[in-house]
Amino acid sequence: MDFSTKNTKPETLKTDCIAVAVHTGKLSPAAQQLDRASKGHLSRAIKESGFEAKAGSTLMLHGVPGTAASRVLLVGLGKATRVASKDFRDSLRAAGRVLAESSAKSVALFTVDTEVADRDQSWAAMQTVSAMLETAYRFDELKSENTCKRKAPTSVVLASSGKITKVLEASMARGQALGAGINLARDLGNLPPNICTPAHLAKQALDIGKRYRMKVAVLEHKDMQKLGMGALLAVAQGSRQPAKFIVMEHRGGGAKQKPVVLVGKGITFDTGGISLKPSADMDEMKYDMSGAGSVLGTMRAIGEMKLPLNVVALIPASENMPGGNATRPGDIVKSMSGQTIEILNTDAEGRLVLCDALTYAERYQPSAVIDIATLTGACVIALGQVATGLFSNDDKLAEELLASGQHSGDRAWHMPLWDDYQEQLKTNFADMANIGGRPAGSVTAACFLSRFAKKYKWVHLDIAGTAWRSGKEKGSTGRPVPMLTQFLMSRAGW
Ligand code: BES
Ligand code: MN
Ligand code: ZN
Repeated sequence: MDFSTKNTKPETLKTDCIAVAVHTGKLSPAAQQLDRASKGHLSRAIKESGFEAKAGSTLMLHGVPGTAASRVLLVGLGKATRVASKDFRDSLRAAGRVLAESSAKSVALFTVDTEVADRDQSWAAMQTVSAMLETAYRFDELKSENTCKRKAPTSVVLASSGKITKVLEASMARGQALGAGINLARDLGNLPPNICTPAHLAKQALDIGKRYRMKVAVLEHKDMQKLGMGALLAVAQGSRQPAKFIVMEHRGGGAKQKPVVLVGKGITFDTGGISLKPSADMDEMKYDMSGAGSVLGTMRAIGEMKLPLNVVALIPASENMPGGNATRPGDIVKSMSGQTIEILNTDAEGRLVLCDALTYAERYQPSAVIDIATLTGACVIALGQVATGLFSNDDKLAEELLASGQHSGDRAWHMPLWDDYQEQLKTNFADMANIGGRPAGSVTAACFLSRFAKKYKWVHLDIAGTAWRSGKEKGSTGRPVPMLTQFLMSRAGW
């Protein structure tokens, strides 16, 4: 999908489909212009079809007179002034879905001039581009016969009635980088677990590193042994797939700038181990590497943007399998931090691979550490598929991420991390247990991680609910790439 900008009148633009905004009871300036050129065709069509222009609704028109484009797509945006940012996002996604199915090869969107409440034109452009890329996304590479042929547009013009500025061009490029990052994360989440192994994640990291000049290292079993990563290796020992510990460094800031460290849970398949999961829907546990996927997607996005900020990515990657050498419930292991852990449930493996990565992060003296993990079913129960669970040992950093989520439309909700909950991790036999019982499962998981994140400012994002959509549109969402990318952009002063 190619993107370009153009300063043009809507009626003279030769393209397969032109999309213009319509508000409830009022046409946008571009729609008004088309209405005039077509001698009131748009107004008549709206009236006759009863199109209310609610946010997220669309109406496709064919053969509009006085117009060079073959089709006109009316995009409902709701109220006419100060459009809510959520409405704008929903509407562009709706438009993108219609266009992806429409067989229009070239399209022009007159949406970046929309007046969105508390957002600027850059935001609208970035959202428009990433919405087009996200809605065009299909995961059909493993179907031998291409059943649903890719019909998505190949050329997209962002049209503006104002002057085309450098800012608009730059926002368009950022939107492309973001969309590509989101779709990479989705690909990784959708790939089957026999393909998306720890080695596959390592290869992805190496590819990104090569393309965007990042330093990438992949630590192997013996390296992790030397570092004393006993918790991570305990998870890996039940599997035939060797674990990998992936380190990526994007050096966009100065040599002295302390980096932001992103840590992504990379369990490429979670059977539960000896504490085996029930078989229903176990296939979905291929998305248990979505934390890693979102970190790789974010690194791709900021690499392409050439973001002037130092960012380190750490990915502990492993399978969780019940092989003959697997850890047993009751095993006690020593983490890299020196703290001992009684593994009472082998299905609470995410925190075990993450805790060693969090200790490894200390060597960077990071300005902030953010871990991203499909950590608990309890978080899905608490927040569903709408909000990511956010836990932090620093309220200011928490606010920063919440704001990035709000701005990008990829929202999180602040959950408690009070000491009172730490009690639940007590055991007679080691420094801590790896489970805290049924009550507040997502909180006790975060409490476990907090014991390894004492030396820096830290946020934990539980994305068990938000990284995946079940049901009819089953598949990976690419969240929280938008939130993370926005956070890093803000940190870079963009
Ligand atoms: N990967 C799962 C969490 C999960 C569950 C993600 C459902 C997405 C959807 C994690 O490793 C896990 O199994 N957690 C256990 C923890 C429990 C044993 C304390 C859980 O949530 O049941
Ligand atoms: Mn598990
Ligand atoms: Zn898991």
